[in-house]
Amino acid sequence: MLDKSPRPATVNVPNDLAAHWMPFTANRAFKKNPRMLAGAKDMHYLTVDGRKIIDGAAGMWCCNAGHGRPQIAEAIGKMSATLDYAPPFQFGIPQAFELATRIADLAPDGLDHVFFCNSGSEAADTALKIALAYHQTNGQGGRVRLIGRERGYHGVGFGGTSVGGIVGNRKIYGSLLTGVDHISHTYDREKQAFSKGEPEYGAHLADDVERLVNLHGANTIAAVIVEPMAGSTGVLPAPKGYLKRLREVTQKHGILLIFDEVITGYGRLGFAFAAERYGVLPDMLTFAKGITNGAAPMGGVLVRDTIHDAFMNGPEHVVELTHGYTYSAHPISCAAALATLDIYREEKLFERAKMLEPKLADAVMSLKNEPNVVDIRCVGLTAAVDLSSLPDLPGKRGFDGLNSAFHDNDLMIRVAGDTLVLTPPLIITEDQIGEIVDKVAKVIRAVA
Ligand SMILES: Cc1ncc(COP(=O)(O)O)c(C=O)c1O
Repeated sequence: MLDKSPRPATVNVPNDLAAHWMPFTANRAFKKNPRMLAGAKDMHYLTVDGRKIIDGAAGMWCCNAGHGRPQIAEAIGKMSATLDYAPPFQFGIPQAFELATRIADLAPDGLDHVFFCNSGSEAADTALKIALAYHQTNGQGGRVRLIGRERGYHGVGFGGTSVGGIVGNRKIYGSLLTGVDHISHTYDREKQAFSKGEPEYGAHLADDVERLVNLHGANTIAAVIVEPMAGSTGVLPAPKGYLKRLREVTQKHGILLIFDEVITGYGRLGFAFAAERYGVLPDMLTFAKGITNGAAPMGGVLVRDTIHDAFMNGPEHVVELTHGYTYSAHPISCAAALATLDIYREEKLFERAKMLEPKLADAVMSLKNEPNVVDIRCVGLTAAVDLSSLPDLPGKRGFDGLNSAFHDNDLMIRVAGDTLVLTPPLIITEDQIGEIVDKVAKVIRAVA
């Protein structure tokens, strides 16, 4: 029978998709069978052919308050009509100062200054540059080495790519930055499989920093950068005690510790920042995505007083840090961010994520006996299901899962290789958690 229920208007798609070279996308496969979006509201996307797709990914870890929030749209519209653009070098807008204060208030004590940029990639590169510049300023200019972690993701700038540890993202880009090393990743399936939350095993892996200190000398190392929960590689929660130990070992050697909180910031792990969840104070903390609920590009770096203050000397007319972007603290992004922070506070969304964490954990663990499931991990409002790879075709089962979810099950997920990742908006209901996990079960069976 014909479905006569009201449907969103369909949207025309151009016949020619060739010109747009899509980022991090299998372009040829996409253009043969596009996953095309036209709208979004609350927990759902709307496709161009009018289907409602439940969002199991918060877009791309961005839309923590769900989609189509009028408060944010109105703030953007009003700001754009009032002040379309203001140069961020040598001029300021009140909203940028207000926003920086509010972000610093949300962050653990000691992270009191915010340097704005436009993305997580720029935030990572900014933090790495500040680390190098700080040591120069502080009379330790020999500290030039940067340390990332295997399987880490810090965006796509040359700095972030260099400290990043996802092999496929770096191996075609030549020698990248010199003087970069990586500590071991924290995943050991044999010892950690099907852990809920932070695995028991692995705190000692933080001591891998000592290996690099022995190799190069502590006085050559500027900073270590890690994600408190490695997201893009398929959700690797930090082992219990790992981040504390990393803090101890870096502090002992005068090495700065940078947390990349581009996806863990703004509630994903049940706190404003993961640093709070783990009771660890990094020297810098990067953020992006959730700061504007994805509604406008923005990123930034929270910086400790000691680092910021080290730059605040010399003649007062001189620029203290020769770094910044044309769109740093863009008026539209500041307006979107202020409205977003209001929503997070009014709706207590970080607390909501914490409350829902065990519900999501129980629900995803029910997938344990589905075909080809080799591990399930979860932390905060995030979960990942590892599927075994098809022989000689790594990533194919995951890719088929993405398509099955979108085309056949009205579900948006993220995939990392053959790992299915769930990172829904924090406004999700318990029923919707059940709905998404039921759909994931269907996807897993479809690609068995
Ligand atoms: C931890 C982390 N850092 C940095 C980035 C890069 O952010 P962007 O894509 O906004 O440059 C991402 C993106 O997913 C991320 O997950």
